[in-house]
Amino acid sequence: MNEKTDPAVIEPIITVQQHILQEQKRFPGASGEFSWLLSGITMATKMIQAKVRMAGLTDILGEWGTINVQGEVQQNLDIYSNEVLVHCLKVRESIGVLASEENEQAILVHGGSENANYAVVFDPLDGSSNIDVNVSVGTTFSILRRPDGVSLDEPEKWVLQPGSVQIAAGYVVYGSSTILVYSVGNGVHGFTLDPSIGAFILSHPDIKMPEQGPYYSVNEAYRDSFPTHYRNYIDHLRNGGLNHKYSSRYIGSMVADFHRTLLKGGVFLYPPTESNSEGKLRLLYEANPIAFLAEQAGGIATDGTRRVLDIQPNSIHQRTPIVVGSQAEMIEFERFASEAR
Ligand code: AHG
Ligand code: MN
Ligand code: MN
Repeated sequence: MNEKTDPAVIEPIITVQQHILQEQKRFPGASGEFSWLLSGITMATKMIQAKVRMAGLTDILGEWGTINVQGEVQQNLDIYSNEVLVHCLKVRESIGVLASEENEQAILVHGGSENANYAVVFDPLDGSSNIDVNVSVGTTFSILRRPDGVSLDEPEKWVLQPGSVQIAAGYVVYGSSTILVYSVGNGVHGFTLDPSIGAFILSHPDIKMPEQGPYYSVNEAYRDSFPTHYRNYIDHLRNGGLNHKYSSRYIGSMVADFHRTLLKGGVFLYPPTESNSEGKLRLLYEANPIAFLAEQAGGIATDGTRRVLDIQPNSIHQRTPIVVGSQAEMIEFERFASEAR
C-alpha cells in the first residue's frame, strides 16, 4: 500500500493562498504584499465564476450594446468581470497600475503611491462569444514589477515590458469546474475551486506539458489566408508526419484551448490571417501569460519568428500571432518556419 492509497495517511489540503505564501518566499522583501495582491485575483475570479454559473438564469446574457477599444461588442459579463477585477485589485496598496482588455488606457491607482510595486494586466473574460452557449470561458492575468525610474504620470510604461520579466502569470477557466493555474516562475500549479467551501484547492501540482500531444488547435475556417508554412505544417500534422495522425480541437476560448494543450500536449495556433495580419490575440494579457506558463511547464511559445516573451510591446492592446505547445510540435513548427525564411 503506498502513501496515496493508505487511508491512514492524510494528504494535506493546500489552498492557493497557502501555496502563494510559500511561493512568495522567493521574493525577498515581498513581506506578504504579493500574496495580498494575488488574493485580489482569487477573490475577483470567484465572483466572476459565480456570475458565469448564473448566466443562464439572469438577464445577464446578451450584448450590452457598447463597443470596446477592440471594436467588439461588449457583453454584460465582460463589463462585470472587468469591474470586479478593478474593484478587487485597486484596493491592494502594492498595485500601482491596472491595464485591461476592456479599458483603453492603463489606470493609475493610489495615485501611483511610492509603496506600489506592481502592475497587473488582464483579460477579464476571455472567449466571451461562448457565454451564451454554455461553453468554457476564462480570465487571464500577468503581473509585472514597476520598472525603475518610471514617473507616475506614465502608467503605460509600467506595463510595456517584455513578457520575460513577468513575475507571475496565470488564468482561470470557468469550465465544467473552475480551475486557477498560475506560476511565479517556479513551475506551474493548478487549483480547482471547491464550491462547497469557496476555496481553490491544489489539484494539479507542478504541471508539465507532455512532450507531444494528440491535437492541434486552430480556427481552420481561416486556413486559406494563413501563411503557406502554417498550412503546410497543419497538413503535416494531420497526415502523420510527426509520428501519428493528429486530431483537432478548437473551443474558441483561448484559455480553454490552452488549458487542454497544457494538460494533454499538442499545439495551439492563432496565425496571421487576412483580416488580422498580426493575429488576433493580444500580447500583454493573452499571449504573454500563456507563453510564460507554457515555458514554465516545459513547452515553447513563438509568434512564428521570435519567442513571444522576448517581444518588446509598443502599445497596451497590441496583437501578436502565437504558436504555443509541446516540445515535439514546436520544434517541428520551427523547422517549417525556418525553411520559409
Ligand atoms: P475575447 O473574448 O477576450 O475577446 O477573446 C476571444 C479570443 C480568444 O479567446 C479566442 O482564442 C479567439 O478569440 C477566437 O477567435 P476566432 O473566433 O477568430 O477563432
Ligand atoms: Mn481574450
Ligand atoms: Mn476578453
